[in-house]
Amino acid sequence: MTASAPASPRPPAGRPVIEISGLRKSFGPAAVLKGIDLTVNAGDVVCVIGPSGSGKSTLLRCVNLLERPTAGSIKLLGVEVTDPDVDIDRVRTHVGMVFQSFNLFPHKTVMGNLTMAQRQVLGRSEAQARAVALRNLEQVGLADRLDAYPAQLSGGQQQRVAIARALSMDPAMMLFDEPTSALDPELVGDVLAVMRDLAESGMTMMVVTHEMAFAREVGDRVVFMDDGQVMEEGPAAQVIGSPRTERARVFLHRVLNPTAVDESELGQTEPPQPGDPDYRPPPAGHGRAGRPGDGRSDGEGHVPLTVR
Ligand SMILES: Nc1ncnc2c1ncn2[C@@H]1O[C@H](COP(=O)(O)OP(=O)(O)OP(=O)(O)O)[C@@H](O)[C@H]1O
Ligand SMILES: [Mg+2]
Repeated sequence: MTASAPASPRPPAGRPVIEISGLRKSFGPAAVLKGIDLTVNAGDVVCVIGPSGSGKSTLLRCVNLLERPTAGSIKLLGVEVTDPDVDIDRVRTHVGMVFQSFNLFPHKTVMGNLTMAQRQVLGRSEAQARAVALRNLEQVGLADRLDAYPAQLSGGQQQRVAIARALSMDPAMMLFDEPTSALDPELVGDVLAVMRDLAESGMTMMVVTHEMAFAREVGDRVVFMDDGQVMEEGPAAQVIGSPRTERARVFLHRVLNPTAVDESELGQTEPPQPGDPDYRPPPAGHGRAGRPGDGRSDGEGHVPLTVR
């Protein structure tokens, strides 16, 4: 490959960038995606929400071919990527992916992390790659940390480096899979702010997230997935504010009210109080905040944070 490998084409706003139709994915007998239809146009920010195990990560992984679809079609920039003749590595250069767990190379500096793929995959010179890296580190507010190793950075800084690394490949679209879920709460805002700036710059984005404030504020559309299907899709304010399906309503209730009582408990009368004949003291450690299904441990959301 030459040193002048082209950047990804940026299609005009409104043109389809990601076109998914009839997408199915099974792992052995387990059907995980059961027929997904979804189009993301240039400049769109589509937030994907839904319960743990509903297939959100598998959907993103199919889009950049980390998983091979079992059936259906995925077009990226008009190219059918499930076609066996397509050069997958070339397709992937147009798709930036950011994971929950940063995935930086621990033995390389920030600059090394940002330049390696540019040089190896795009064939850029060291000087070109460094210039691009620096521009993207400035965008995420970390131009002063280019000589640091990942272990010397906070989780939020590492995730911003991971975003800058993906941007350094000049992708036409960015996929984010719960990019803030592994972060301490006080570090979430900086990462979301970088993502918001990216969205405002016109980047096409698919974002799996439990940050409902972000989805509302930055997402053009929200897709609610459950059990391998798109159950609802629409403007962020509508899907989050007044979901049509019962499943979305229950999910959003739990994510937006992480310390609330279960649906099954709704409508019950006041529980017995100490002194009542039916009163039973709770077992030790039975705090609501730590109950399975409430917190971040099961990937079903945590207290929404305001984007600065
Ligand atoms: N490589 C795999 N092999 C077998 N089963 C898998 C594989 N990857 C995912 N699955 C299964 O597919 C289902 C969907 O998983 P996926 O990771 O896409 O869900 P998710 O919506 O991203 O969940 P979470 O919110 O917990 O991240 C799960 O039941 C999971 O166990
Ligand atoms: Mg996932």
